[in-house]
Amino acid sequence: MKPVRWGILSTAGIGTKKVIPGMLKSRELEVAAIASRNLGTAQSAAAALGIPSAHGSYEALLADPTIEAIYNPLPNHLHVPLTLAALQAGKHVLCEKPMAISAAEIEVLRPYASRLHVREAFMVRHHPQWLAVREELRRGTIGELRFMHVPFTYFNADPANIRNQADIGGGALYDIGCYAIVAGRWFLEGEPVRATAFVARDAGFGIDATTSGLMEFGRGRHLVFSVSMQVAPCQRVRLVGTEGRLEIEIAFSAPRDQPCRFFVDGAGALDGSGVETVTLPVADQYRLHQTERLDQTQDQLPAVVHHNEVVKVEEIKS
Ligand SMILES: NC(=O)c1ccc[n+]([C@@H]2O[C@H](COP(=O)([O-])OP(=O)(O)OC[C@H]3O[C@@H](n4cnc5c(N)ncnc54)[C@H](OP(=O)(O)O)[C@@H]3O)[C@@H](O)[C@H]2O)c1
Repeated sequence: MKPVRWGILSTAGIGTKKVIPGMLKSRELEVAAIASRNLGTAQSAAAALGIPSAHGSYEALLADPTIEAIYNPLPNHLHVPLTLAALQAGKHVLCEKPMAISAAEIEVLRPYASRLHVREAFMVRHHPQWLAVREELRRGTIGELRFMHVPFTYFNADPANIRNQADIGGGALYDIGCYAIVAGRWFLEGEPVRATAFVARDAGFGIDATTSGLMEFGRGRHLVFSVSMQVAPCQRVRLVGTEGRLEIEIAFSAPRDQPCRFFVDGAGALDGSGVETVTLPVADQYRLHQTERLDQTQDQLPAVVHHNEVVKVEEIKS
């Protein structure tokens, strides 16, 4: 097979620092072009990363007939509009999370999903630790999983950061709450049926600085999460079952240069004396390290949950 020719929409930090370096390690694709609102910025990024072509507008990249797939790491409010434009130009799209900032917005993408690939860039689902922990759960290592707790936080009060701008899709729920929810869907292997949340808003920025959510996944199984952009860094996935506990140490920002660990405690001792540590080989989750195919249910456009009700969405065939 010929390598797929990718175009990168913007010089976003996540692309230039993590995703493009991950892509460049693959022989299955070619990073053929990068675009920016400013041609000079695109040219500098292209030169730094060894990308052959640079465009001075997003539209020019989408009009490039040699590009087959687009990576969209724009600010959240541009995820759907530019993904739609790329699909309309006949290109496959990998779009950064969260794919949309409202339930209704994502619907315009669905009609294209039957003939083009359109995916949300939750890299965590490719990390061996997410696959290994799910295998432990399927094996019944901690009995029946009944609930999970997920804190995911950092401190960022920079007014210039896209996350602190309410009008372009800023806020903790969009930026990191989506990871907690994807963890719930992945480890509980289902979709939430009810959801509610408490939100603490930053008065100056207007974004949700801290959000805590409670979701029910059916059969009495719960996800509880707290995400914040204004406390000390913390991230864990803690899973509690009928016969034990399991905890992922660095569940989301898994380091690319050191092994990841999770802890299994089936003994029931509360002081941690029964903990067994599982250490996984070093992996770069921004490069596909997939050891099994993603479940179809987990790789489709997400189902949509509103407060205390579920909006049914059509299944997408991909
Ligand atoms: N999967 C992950 O691990 C991960 C990690 C971090 C972020 N993300 C997601 O990736 C996206 C980008 O995040 P980031 O931290 O990389 O952002 P960033 O560094 O601020 O980059 C955003 C880029 O969007 C372009 N842009 C277009 N309109 C803009 C506007 N009105 N304001 C600011 N920038 C604008 C700019 O590129 P040009 O100047 O080149 O046009 C800018 O460099 C977000 O959706 C975020 O949720 C994902």
